[in-house]
Amino acid sequence: MKKSPALDYIFSRRSIRKYKPDPVEDSSLELILKAAMSAPSAVAKDPWRFVIIDDFELKKKTADALPHGKFLVDAPVGILVCGDLSAAHGGLEGYLIQDCSAAIENLLLAVNSLGLGACWLGVYPREERIDAMRNIFELPKNILPVACISLGYPAEEKKSRDRYNPSYVHRNHWK
Ligand SMILES: Cc1cc2nc3c(=O)[nH]c(=O)nc-3n(C[C@H](O)[C@H](O)[C@H](O)COP(=O)(O)O)c2cc1C
Repeated sequence: MKKSPALDYIFSRRSIRKYKPDPVEDSSLELILKAAMSAPSAVAKDPWRFVIIDDFELKKKTADALPHGKFLVDAPVGILVCGDLSAAHGGLEGYLIQDCSAAIENLLLAVNSLGLGACWLGVYPREERIDAMRNIFELPKNILPVACISLGYPAEEKKSRDRYNPSYVHRNHWK
């Protein structure tokens, strides 16, 4: 098999839910967001928007509103990934979600390559979580929260897993 450092980072990426208290450097945060904003987006509309959450009270409120994201409170930083509906191609939510999801995956891979750890915390399409994020961050109407990311230096080690399943792949025809 061909060797590729980029593939190593893809294969070794795991959701990290335990963090050291050490802060994440602003220079790393900027690199991570640069990677996020290098993702493909429909007609290059780049509708993604990011809210960095490092205020403890805000982090706590956010964690409280996410049923599977309570550990966000112990992460040194969170990132709320949103999309701007007025910027998305055709004003369509479907494009916004695909664009933001591509940005999130780039972000997670950048995190892994920097020796940091992160977890994608689902917001969209759960109405109650979307409403909670809208309230906590006072988002304008055109801004749709998609996901929250918990981020920090990992305090747990996770092995990579091989999730390749050849039965999920079809060639030319479904059968
Ligand atoms: C749309 C989406 C929502 C997710 N929401 C959560 C979440 O709320 N809490 C959580 O701990 N993990 C969440 N995850 C992470 C998944 O649980 C994780 O990616 C999956 O179990 C595979 O494990 P891995 O990331 O370690 O490979 C989410 C992932 C996606 C793509």
